[in-house]
Amino acid sequence: MSAISFPTKQLNSLSTPCYFYDMVVLEQTLATIKREVAAYKNYEVHYAVKANANPRILRAISAAGLGADCVSGGEIRAAIEAGFPGSKVVFAGVGKADWEIRLGLEHDICCFNVESVPELEVINQLAAEADKVARVAFRINPDVGAHTHANITTGLAENKFGISMRDMEYVIQLAKQMEHVHFVGLHFHIGSQILEMDDFVALSHRVNELQEQLETAGVKVESINVGGGLGIDYQQPTLHPVPNFADYFATYANNLKLRPGQSLHFELGRSIVGQCGALLSRVLYVKQGTNKQFAILDAGMTDLIRPALYQAHHSILNLTSEEPAQTYDVVGPICESSDVFAKGVMLPAAKRGDLFALLSAGAYGEIMASKYNCRSLPQAYYSDEIVKD
Ligand code: LLP
Repeated sequence: MSAISFPTKQLNSLSTPCYFYDMVVLEQTLATIKREVAAYKNYEVHYAVKANANPRILRAISAAGLGADCVSGGEIRAAIEAGFPGSKVVFAGVGKADWEIRLGLEHDICCFNVESVPELEVINQLAAEADKVARVAFRINPDVGAHTHANITTGLAENKFGISMRDMEYVIQLAKQMEHVHFVGLHFHIGSQILEMDDFVALSHRVNELQEQLETAGVKVESINVGGGLGIDYQQPTLHPVPNFADYFATYANNLKLRPGQSLHFELGRSIVGQCGALLSRVLYVKQGTNKQFAILDAGMTDLIRPALYQAHHSILNLTSEEPAQTYDVVGPICESSDVFAKGVMLPAAKRGDLFALLSAGAYGEIMASKYNCRSLPQAYYSDEIVKD
């Protein structure tokens, strides 16, 4: 598997900051998923559009035959425009607005992942108005902790997401009494950037318990959706450009007991697009501090917010220097002291104009960019549109 590669000469002529996507890395990631998932009957992968909704990226993923996992009407529109069929769209989110629910109904989406009773009632009402029956799954909080950053763990017993296990049977019975919703299954999501397969084992065991409980109550479940969360290697992206999907799917196959005819759905975001993208930025100034030196870039937290928001690590390359390494704090130009990409990193000696690449930025990078400080949103470029020598 090849890691992201940089045609430096061509990239050097681009205006920065910008995102660069290596479409070969994306294609080989998609090919791996397709190959690994084909080993199992009834497994379906939906791409979590929130990770990156760039139209070119979406089109490549829909062309590979994956479904889409959306959390807003905007994402449903983007997915449909990129060629995802409505029948492969799942729609989650704690606060679905009426127009977003109507849009989902219009496209006869695969499933609404419902997170509360009031939401179920509104879906039933809007479906009645549209003379349709909405397929619904309930997002259940499995009370399974994930070993990841506190801001991106979601499966614990009490948070704004989902419905508690205690209420599960009650909400299913409620749905069964409604004419315009059809209960199809259970939905879970325990967090993101999870690298310990044991966390997915724990979720599988919980799903097994809940399935047994529902069987005893005589409830038929057509589908199980275990959400996303598979992490990527931010420390050594070039060694592991494609996550270990074989292990991931095998973990579920070995631990989650599907009933005959049941389908198992996944909502993968980061693991699909994380490693194909990089943020490119130029050094504006090298500033000597009292005890350290700063490489001040033209990219900041407005272009890639993950380090500021989650103390996330992104490996950095200086693409245009082969000088002996020096130590830098790599920072952005935004008026916030958290606008720091890395502290004390060793990089080939930098000078004004050098081109830096911040790796593993394909997921939750471009899509989380903002205009704070009246900055422009970063442009995107694609390896297959860059003419190489
Ligand atoms: N399904 C649900 C219900 C989710 O909430 C998420 C992510 C996913 C699927 C996709 O998870 P993934 O496979 O990408 O881990 N901005 C943060 C990540 C937030 C994730 C939110 N939910 C970051 O940059 O790390």
